[in-house]
Amino acid sequence: MKKIQFLSIAILSSFVIACGGKKEEEKKDEGFQVERANSDDKKEEAANTNTVALAGNDSMLFDKNELRVEAGKPVTLTLRHTGVMQKISMGHNFVLLKQGTNVAEFAGAAASARDTDYIPADSDAVIAHTKMLGGGESDTITFDAPAPGTYDYICSFPGHYAVMRGTLVVE
Ligand code: CO
Repeated sequence: MKKIQFLSIAILSSFVIACGGKKEEEKKDEGFQVERANSDDKKEEAANTNTVALAGNDSMLFDKNELRVEAGKPVTLTLRHTGVMQKISMGHNFVLLKQGTNVAEFAGAAASARDTDYIPADSDAVIAHTKMLGGGESDTITFDAPAPGTYDYICSFPGHYAVMRGTLVVE
């Protein structure tokens, strides 16, 4: 009998302790869950979008010759011209070309398309492109990642594509 009494007291007191402690825990949990939900949202957003940063400079170079993105997700790409030279002499853009495009031919057509920012109006080879930028400018575009594979990208300013080009890998 004594044993049972002791046991019930022990259970009762641990219940009280548990209850007292639980409130604190719940409060902490709530705060934690809210925090976690927020960071989950951000993570989810980041996980559902490919974020790509590319830069061009006054030496007529991109800072990356290969970009990698995941298929089935939109791509948000920001091109920054990190130089100071004007668009008219050192313009940079990002032009993503469909597979099978003859890059030299496309660049030739682009070079004479000054009125349309060096994007040939009658071409169906372009998947996505930014504006033509001068020093200090940037442009952000969003497009759906094309099917898995590799795609050429260039700057279509006259004479730039020979060195300002790279590969977008969709995987
Ligand atoms: Co350029």
